[in-house]
Amino acid sequence: MNSSIQIRSATVDDVEEVYQLLLPYAEDDIILLRDRDNIFQHLQEFLVAEFDGKLAGTVCAHIYAENLAEVRSLAVDPVCQQHGVGHLLVEACETWLSGLGVSKVFALTYVTGFFIKQGYSIVSKESLPHKIWTVCVHCSRFADCDEVAVEKALENKTVKIDSRKERQDAKKGKTTERKAINAPAYVGNQQVK
Ligand SMILES: CC(C)(COP(=O)(O)OP(=O)(O)OC[C@H]1O[C@@H](n2cnc3c(N)ncnc32)[C@H](O)[C@@H]1OP(=O)(O)O)[C@@H](O)C(=O)NCCC(=O)NCCS
Repeated sequence: MNSSIQIRSATVDDVEEVYQLLLPYAEDDIILLRDRDNIFQHLQEFLVAEFDGKLAGTVCAHIYAENLAEVRSLAVDPVCQQHGVGHLLVEACETWLSGLGVSKVFALTYVTGFFIKQGYSIVSKESLPHKIWTVCVHCSRFADCDEVAVEKALENKTVKIDSRKERQDAKKGKTTERKAINAPAYVGNQQVK
């Protein structure tokens, strides 16, 4: 694959494709099953990777607290795997979360090697707060979960607007450039291998 991949926020038009992308992995118990209603209800948390107008992958960022968010529902279309799409999705999620001020991200995963390549470290599941397990009770492997917990500290990229500078600029007739910190991430074209 030598084309450009666009990472963007998911829209309602993506729900069916996101559902179809996640379904086979959920049936194999690799990720948690999400029905269409659940995807609609959490749509603001989803990013998608688009390649040639087709959905190549998706990921979801769920925030628990200022110091903790989860990367979940990460899936790349099998025909698009091993071309950097998963990496771009996780990176976009991290940029989005750190822009919102979240300081740490974790995942529960069977693809530990993939996350280690993205800078994550293995941690004990016991180190994660109890509240993260509430969705796991719906998993058939809950009683005997062999997923690995991985986490990564995020560099805080929150942009603080200096209102004094803004007022000074306004007096000079200039407009202070504001960077959107809660905009849906990291939207743009990325060259992939
Ligand atoms: C795991 C998954 C998201 C990776 O997506 P991908 O687009 O193939 O990954 P990338 O091409 O971005 O890979 C980035 C790097 O990780 C490596 N990598 C990819 N999958 C890996 C795996 N399963 N184990 C170890 N390393 C892996 C790649 O070789 C690449 O290494 P490089 O930077 O040295 O070239 C994809 O295989 C997938 O959808 N798997 C099924 C669902 C799943 O397991 N989701 C994770 C739930 S937590």
